Amino acid sequence: MDINPDRGNLHKIVILNPKGGSGKTTLATNLASFFARRGPPPTLIDCDPLGYSMRWLENRSTQAPKIYGFAAHEHCTEQGKGTELHAWPGSGQMIVDLPAAIAENQLYYETYDADSILIPITPSEIDIYSAARFIANLLLVAQFDRRKRNLAIVANRTRKNTISFRMLMRFLTSLEIPIIAKLRDSQVFVHAAARGIGVCDMPAYLVKNDMEQLEAIVRWLDNWRVRKLEAAAAESLKQAPAKEAFTPALVRHD
Ligand SMILES: Nc1ncnc2c1ncn2[C@@H]1O[C@H](COP(=O)(O)OP(=O)(O)OP(=O)(O)O)[C@@H](O)[C@H]1O
Ligand SMILES: [Mg+2]
Repeated sequence: MDINPDRGNLHKIVILNPKGGSGKTTLATNLASFFARRGPPPTLIDCDPLGYSMRWLENRSTQAPKIYGFAAHEHCTEQGKGTELHAWPGSGQMIVDLPAAIAENQLYYETYDADSILIPITPSEIDIYSAARFIANLLLVAQFDRRKRNLAIVANRTRKNTISFRMLMRFLTSLEIPIIAKLRDSQVFVHAAARGIGVCDMPAYLVKNDMEQLEAIVRWLDNWRVRKLEAAAAESLKQAPAKEAFTPALVRHD
């Protein structure tokens, strides 16, 4: 996926999981609302031909904090090469909502220049199985490098203490991929989706738990430059030739 070359300080956030209904659009629209409220206006990019993110944006009141929208699938350049993306000048974040149906060989184009990648996973047994396969493909087919520290998981629609939830946690811990938040299964997300708002726009007493989780995601996202620098430093340390060990000259005492 290409983006405007003069990206500057724009933070590119890609949200993906080939499993339908895992919460990509929910996460994208809630993050967009959060960043919009904080300002400057983010750009929300809908790569799904079904256009749910753009429909959500159409339902948004003109009085609500501004979010720029871009229906990327309408501007497809070359089959199999992703889409040319455009963020509005002044946006701090470009949030890319990917569709479920994404070919394995397209994963590279969708992720190679992302500063942050979020994978929402719902903890049903079948979703865990497909997420495991997908993450393996991301590492192998898209040559994704975990050391870049730009990949994180958001557990979605969690019900604690279920077997599938514990399975999900074990699976992710074994991959050493951080799980940065756990969004509960709640109607607040459904109501927000229908009204073109995010949980951050709802009364605080209704969404206390959801806001804590959303803020945890934003904290991880906001740290993207530090993550990038740390990953680059770790890489250069690995590549630097090992310094010769100091060997004191032998002194003879005849
Ligand atoms: N935490 C949640 N609690 C309750 N409902 C949720 C939650 N997350 C998502 N949903 C609902 O589940 C449905 C699917 O979510 P969403 O559209 O975000 O998934 P998606 O991954 O974007 O799907 P697709 O792959 O089709 O694009 C929506 O109706 C959404 O409102
Ligand atoms: Mg979607």
